[in-house]
Amino acid sequence: MNRILVLNPKGGSGKTTIATNLASYYACQGVGTALLDYDPQGSSARWASQRHEDLPPVHCVNACAKTNTAMTRSWYLRVPPGTEQMIIDAPAGVTGAKLQEFLRNVDAILIPVMPSSIDVHAMAKFIQELLLQGKVKQRGIKVGIVANRVKAKTNAYRALMQFLSTLKLPFITSIRDSQYYVAAADMGIGVHEISGKMLENDKEQWHKLYEWLQDSEQNYESDSDFLQTGHLSYHQHT
Ligand SMILES: Nc1ncnc2c1ncn2[C@@H]1O[C@H](COP(=O)(O)OP(=O)(O)O)[C@@H](O)[C@H]1O
Ligand SMILES: [Mg+2]
Repeated sequence: MNRILVLNPKGGSGKTTIATNLASYYACQGVGTALLDYDPQGSSARWASQRHEDLPPVHCVNACAKTNTAMTRSWYLRVPPGTEQMIIDAPAGVTGAKLQEFLRNVDAILIPVMPSSIDVHAMAKFIQELLLQGKVKQRGIKVGIVANRVKAKTNAYRALMQFLSTLKLPFITSIRDSQYYVAAADMGIGVHEISGKMLENDKEQWHKLYEWLQDSEQNYESDSDFLQTGHLSYHQHT
């Protein structure tokens, strides 16, 4: 079973949007897919409850109903047999001991980030924790960044891209700011389940994410490189 954790301690960065769109994508590929919602707000669970029964199924586990120290381990046992892809939608505020618990048994971590200096600074701090305390590299977990709610040709987006290019972590793709994501969330679908030319470019952007997830290569460099070049240079570009 492959496990993807969508993680960023900051609320509203796009964790649920990425988790639900990925879940619908894998389900549409005929992959046995489980979506684990750890957020008490239950947005992924709500998304799943809106999903029409004729669509490829996503098994959603409302994982925050019971939280104890062994929470991630116990919930891993709750997915149906035949589950090949597990997507974990983390709540906001996952740091410290909670973070260590979430890192258990995951294969990949996606960090969504919005083009705003507040979000970028919070992410830089979090990445530092993830690399140093989380020891993701030693655990063989691959980590990638997804820019979300992007408005092309804005200074905020340019600043984010410039900052990400200084990081020694892979930047995977950019997801546009679009009401289609809001509408898809309400309907329990993913954007690639919406047909029509208007989302062609968006689907291409998502494709980069699917490819990155499929690629088993580890492609980030050393933690110390990140610490030397990463968050320190953001100020220069804003
Ligand atoms: N790419 C996007 N375009 C437009 N709205 C978005 C996009 N991504 C997220 N949103 C909206 O922003 C809000 C926060 O996103 P969400 O995925 O719930 O973040 P998180 O799970 O990190 O709190 C939601 O209302 C969601 O519909
Ligand atoms: Mg959420």
